[in-house]
Amino acid sequence: MSKLPFKTITDLKTKDLKGNFVLVRTDFNVPIAKGKVLNDSRLLSALPTLKYLAERGAKVLVVAHLGRAGTESLAPVARALEPHLKIGFSKLVFDEARFKAMPNGSVMLLENIRRHEEEEKNDKVFAKRLAGLADIYINDAFSASHRAHASIVGVPKYLPSFAGLAFAKEYTELSKVNKAGHPFVLILGGAKFETKLPVIKKLLPRADFVFVGGALAHPLWHKLGYEIGKSLVGDGVKGLVEVLKDKKIQLPIDVVVKTKDGRVVKKPEGVRKQDNIQDAGPATIDLLKEKIIKAKFVLWNGPVGNFEKGFSKGTEEIAVALVEATGYSMVGGGDTVAALERHHLSSGINYISMSGGAMLEFIAKGTLPGIKALEK
Ligand code: 3PG
Repeated sequence: MSKLPFKTITDLKTKDLKGNFVLVRTDFNVPIAKGKVLNDSRLLSALPTLKYLAERGAKVLVVAHLGRAGTESLAPVARALEPHLKIGFSKLVFDEARFKAMPNGSVMLLENIRRHEEEEKNDKVFAKRLAGLADIYINDAFSASHRAHASIVGVPKYLPSFAGLAFAKEYTELSKVNKAGHPFVLILGGAKFETKLPVIKKLLPRADFVFVGGALAHPLWHKLGYEIGKSLVGDGVKGLVEVLKDKKIQLPIDVVVKTKDGRVVKKPEGVRKQDNIQDAGPATIDLLKEKIIKAKFVLWNGPVGNFEKGFSKGTEEIAVALVEATGYSMVGGGDTVAALERHHLSSGINYISMSGGAMLEFIAKGTLPGIKALEK
């Protein structure tokens, strides 16, 4: 394991934990429909830390967020965890009287921390009050650690602070990008250009081949003067010229477009006003497969097509090539991981990151607000 710039829970002795309150920040921001958790990967990844603490007699208070508005409840998450772990649920974040009665080795999930608007503001008084619930703070939410919120950066100011097991693993794995062997292939798709551009800039000097696909390619073609029809343009288009100049950058060489007559494969320069680009074409996928098979390290974030609407061939074929390749494969981002799971290909990938935005920011900047908060 590379040297970690923060302490982890394995640095704690049982006597530090037994009978003490431990506040654990997890990332349980998961898709929920009709009261059921649709994807439990983030829940399962938090179990080793929660069990580690409970087995050593800590009273574990679990803090998490769900959605942006703070209106959704984490109760379905507690229910989904029950088969794996004895866990209670507190409808209130601050229910000191109830917490006082918790026996050693018990775990309680607290309601959505974003119910309190002070969380996102990183309000000092709120962070102090949250810290007042516990003796020790643990961050096991790497995937939320790009947010400078109270439960990520505020609480560690007031308590002895440590990283959880999933946090440390994510840090160690994502740091491998810095030592990626050659050929190093970077595949980026999805739509949010402003989150991907810093990663492109950071990794361009070291990568051998950078594929920019999905809706990320549309504003680049637009800049080149091509027609992109009704295709999604994405956001944040600053810095595109620089990207287009670099010879290592590869855009799709053909695309699947949705027309009123159905699916048609076209060259990017052949797209017309009535077309809507939906996926990478077969020649593009063949080119990518060739690069993936020869690569020592492949980092992939973002689907290359509108896979949720049935345009999944490009994304699926990249995933199959990664599974068949012998180089190291690392995949991150909610949509990309969902696509892998949909095609039952996750187990063939060397490392699947639980992080989306946090993964991109960590790779681009080498740190996150939540990491810095643990480094003191
Ligand atoms: C995520 O799901 O990527 C993290 O939990 C961060 O969520 P947020 O974008 O709502 O802050």
